[in-house]
Amino acid sequence: MRLHVADHPLITHKITVLRDKNTPSPVFRQLTSELMTLLAYEATRNVRVEPCEIETPVTKTTGVKISDPRPLVVPILRAGLGMLDGMVTLIPTAEVGFLGMARDEVTFEPVTYAERLPEDLSDRQCFVLDPMLATGGSLGAAIEFLFRRGAQEVTAVCLLGSPEGVEAIRKQVDGRNVTLVLGALDERLNEKGYIVPGLGDAGDRLYGTV
Ligand code: PRP
Ligand code: URA
Repeated sequence: MRLHVADHPLITHKITVLRDKNTPSPVFRQLTSELMTLLAYEATRNVRVEPCEIETPVTKTTGVKISDPRPLVVPILRAGLGMLDGMVTLIPTAEVGFLGMARDEVTFEPVTYAERLPEDLSDRQCFVLDPMLATGGSLGAAIEFLFRRGAQEVTAVCLLGSPEGVEAIRKQVDGRNVTLVLGALDERLNEKGYIVPGLGDAGDRLYGTV
């Protein structure tokens, strides 16, 4: 597994505002979207392209276009939905599939309650979006889901990750083609499975409901 932790003052600045418990939902949503666009730049570094011929007003030249099959972006509901806009801003031709997952707050096991994805993901480059990588249960289950459908390559983008979650994903993917892009790597998990220092419950902060 490849791990990339962002190292850019604008990203750190925006994450600091997200962490602040006084940041209201509208600002939180806006920043989540902006952060995703910044992280998408790194996450799409290896997006598949193919050569194409075009004509500028001056001459013929060769450029590149995104290859078929188009990349598939998969936000994990609910909180991942807050990142979708930021991703498709940068890569508007991507297709979008959905996975609904909720973590049991006692066992930390993820429960999958919704799925809307193509049956066959062979040859697809998949991008999973979830702001929080805590125990790694939800992201791990999402990655397994995509590999079972035939995906060859998965890039996961999270705003915050815990060391425990990163290790859990590393163990689980074991040599498969997975890249993890984080906005920040935090200190640890607390006894309730929350990331410390973290930002609290990402879904609640985005949407203001439980
Ligand atoms: C949160 C978050 C992740 C998950 C992370 O979702 O958005 O999906 O928890 O925890 P884990 O790494 O221990 O699995 P939650 O289950 O609270 O659902 P929500 O997005 O609907 O709020
Ligand atoms: N889910 C969240 O939304 N926040 C955490 O810190 C852990 C799991």
